[in-house]
Amino acid sequence: MSKNNSLVVVGAQWGDEGKGKVIDHLAVKADLVARFQGGNNAGHTVVYGANIFKLHHVPSGILNKNTLCLLGNGMVVNPLILIKEMNELEKRGIDTSNLRISGKAHLILDYHEALDESNEKLLGEKKIGTTGRGIGPSYADKALRRGIRAIELTDFSRFKNRLAEVLPLQNRILRDIFDHPGYELDQLAEKYRPAVERLGPLVTDISLILDQGLAGGKKVLFEGAQGALLDIDHGTYPYVTSSSTVAAAAASGTGLGPQRLGQVLGVMKAYTTRVGEGPFPSEDKGEAGDQLRERGNEFGTTTGRPRRCGWFDAVIARYAAMINGLTGLALTKLDVLSGMEIVKIAVAYRCNGKEIKNFPSSIEELKLCEPVYESFPGWDEDISRARSLDDLPPAARNFIEALQKTVGVDAELVSVGPDRSQTIICPDSQLAKWFS
Ligand code: GDP
Ligand code: IMO
Ligand code: MG
Repeated sequence: MSKNNSLVVVGAQWGDEGKGKVIDHLAVKADLVARFQGGNNAGHTVVYGANIFKLHHVPSGILNKNTLCLLGNGMVVNPLILIKEMNELEKRGIDTSNLRISGKAHLILDYHEALDESNEKLLGEKKIGTTGRGIGPSYADKALRRGIRAIELTDFSRFKNRLAEVLPLQNRILRDIFDHPGYELDQLAEKYRPAVERLGPLVTDISLILDQGLAGGKKVLFEGAQGALLDIDHGTYPYVTSSSTVAAAAASGTGLGPQRLGQVLGVMKAYTTRVGEGPFPSEDKGEAGDQLRERGNEFGTTTGRPRRCGWFDAVIARYAAMINGLTGLALTKLDVLSGMEIVKIAVAYRCNGKEIKNFPSSIEELKLCEPVYESFPGWDEDISRARSLDDLPPAARNFIEALQKTVGVDAELVSVGPDRSQTIICPDSQLAKWFS
């Protein structure tokens, strides 16, 4: 098996880096695309021509008819929302019969959403700013060994029996702590009957499909959701999501050994954004931040919330490179910087009078960090039609070079617009081999 057959694509900032666009572009060469963590907190946008698709559970390879799309065991899946997503795709002429779900993926049920909302309300000003999709409570149930897995959807009475085991405790928590009315077993079970009918037949052993596919020379893409700084272990805890978002999770989240993973492409915007609460050293609450939000149309794909914006942060990028073992960068939204007089990169932080280059693990220290910027001349040209690095103005190329140098990883893909065609694959990069 050649390692060039498998490619992991992860978010290397706080999510929304453009993973969906990058995956869709690479998926033309993929036999299999697998999600390995997260759930419908993800919002991955794919654009081609006048078509805009916003995907939440479904891997961004779905637009390719011949690509098998897998939901891995590391995911949490809301069955009814997944059916809705599939129906919407079908209505638009996209075939979803190529979708498979790991029996070991955990389900997000109504009470998880209720608990997510209730937890956030209880936290008040200290809230995480979750997407409200029930992600945290579903992963918590998995860890507490009281989750319900997709395998239960293969048989209605099996699903209902499992629900009967776990619902009394969920109801007690909801009623006693959160003053929520709770759920009635028969009613709740019936609500999920369509999921048994529609999704049950799609439940299968994902590891086996991947193992046999890789052994047979098939090309596999692993699609990350969220981003490095939202990782449950390595992110800005507690302002993180509840899954492991880093590349290593592509192995555990699908049921493969780590030696089966090939290159690791880290998707980064040419600036930085974050949705929800938590520290963000290079956040710009002034004119530059507003300009980035407006030009980059920085409003959440899942919740519509305005994204917080700021300059590119090389400290988090170096950290993301380390914790993921990035072999290349996919630099997106470079076009958004066109027309800015100067463009900046945070190359270090200043904290308690000291300059630091490494990302601090203490969130209290991070809150005190001020970015140390290097400024570069901007460019006025519209670069959205550039299809090779040579088409870019010298100032844009200088910016990419400075960014690569300070991050220590080379750009292999540069994105200059949302459309799948607005993509530059850097010649001589490892990624170029993916297309050969
Ligand atoms: P994801 O969650 O990482 O897949 O990213 P999202 O889809 O949530 O957010 C990225 C947004 O930027 C989407 O609206 C994309 O269509 C858009 N986008 C992706 N790449 C580019 C790019 O290079 N330039 C511009 N202008 N938009 C882009
Ligand atoms: P994609 O895949 C950006 C953020 C939420 C919140 C925190 C926890 O589109 O990049 P959760 O609902 O997961 O418990 O929320 O994580 N968050 C994201 N931010 N992009 C995402 O996904 C996100 N998924 C979760 O805003 O701060
Ligand atoms: Mg998104």
